[in-house]
Amino acid sequence: MKDQADEGRRANGAPAVPGSTRPLPVTHTQRVDTWALRWLDPPDGPAVMLLDQTRLPAEETYLTCTDVPSLVDAIGRLVVRGAPMLGLAGAFGVALAAHRGEDVAQAAGALARARPTAANLSWGAGRTLASYRAAGHGSATAPDAGRIAARAALAEARSIAAEDAAASAAIAAHGLGLVPDRARILTHCNTGALVSAGDGTAFAVILAAHRAGRLAQLWVDETRPLLQGARLTAYEAQRAGMPYAVLADAAAASLMAAGQVDMVITGADRVAADGSVANKIGTYGLAVLARHHGVPFVVAAPLSTVDFTAADGTAIVVEHRAAQEVTSFAGVAVSPAGSDAYNPAFDVTPGALVTALVTERGVARPADGGTLHFLGATPPSGVTAPAGVSMER
Ligand code: MRU
Repeated sequence: MKDQADEGRRANGAPAVPGSTRPLPVTHTQRVDTWALRWLDPPDGPAVMLLDQTRLPAEETYLTCTDVPSLVDAIGRLVVRGAPMLGLAGAFGVALAAHRGEDVAQAAGALARARPTAANLSWGAGRTLASYRAAGHGSATAPDAGRIAARAALAEARSIAAEDAAASAAIAAHGLGLVPDRARILTHCNTGALVSAGDGTAFAVILAAHRAGRLAQLWVDETRPLLQGARLTAYEAQRAGMPYAVLADAAAASLMAAGQVDMVITGADRVAADGSVANKIGTYGLAVLARHHGVPFVVAAPLSTVDFTAADGTAIVVEHRAAQEVTSFAGVAVSPAGSDAYNPAFDVTPGALVTALVTERGVARPADGGTLHFLGATPPSGVTAPAGVSMER
């Protein structure tokens, strides 16, 4: 587990880095031989290597970012994406700046601003910056103080990756308890190994259900406009051998009306202190539909996605993206030249529509200020969870 961020899935017998003779141990336990981000030490680095998610599933190509501006650009273009993975990108980006002897605080700021909605990005960059600074202060008089601080930054980034893998496993275990037998599950966007050092968030729960023989059908929302569902979730579901079908986002309503959905589960980009959930555009509509049809609407996210400083959904900044993402399809214009577009990348679902929020510490049900606060705070030993919270034991 020395040179990559996806520490949860390192094993033997893996392919080599393209253009390199060094072996990359990347076998995934569920035949999802996927890693999204890897740290490269010299002589190949220092660098952050990314699986280019904009090209999946047609091509598995890799992008090596040798400096922070190229990583910021990759984040903006969604080469690397998804809340937990953005946390790793922020963290390893700060480590990269430290190894290059650059202004690390400035780099952390640039990384944090690359996309505004996913809480994990600024959290990962900030946490790694804090470790860098603490090590720098502690070794200020040492001749190699810069190297010591850079090593501390990389160690912190690796810790974040390891914690994310552990959180993913715990989320899967907690979430499995919510999945009925012969479940037909609908999901939105992409929440698997491509966005995590482990099996992901919502997709980790689905994978656990699949392994337990409980998944009858996975319904994959295509997730307009950038098709994270049709391209990426379908890619991961196929590799995992799941029974799945892709549907146009607009088909979810009639699918639920037909009684074909037992549960909706999504990830989150930022959860406010009152349980409001920002996630990929279209999530709010699904939550409304689920409520109308009496279908449980579950959100799975690590606590690093919960922003206790955001009092409610109005405090969440929603990223708006370029009009061309909507007015063109696969690079071909579909609207008259000059058409404007409304293109928020995320929407905010009120906590009242969320049946349960699954975290690594347990399940908040309902997801509100009280249950979230309990999960987020470290409860003193002997304190039992209030009604609505099931805690990890
Ligand atoms: O714009 P993206 O692809 O980064 O959006 C990702 C999502 O909305 C995911 O659902 C969210 O980050 C949860 S990932 C575990």
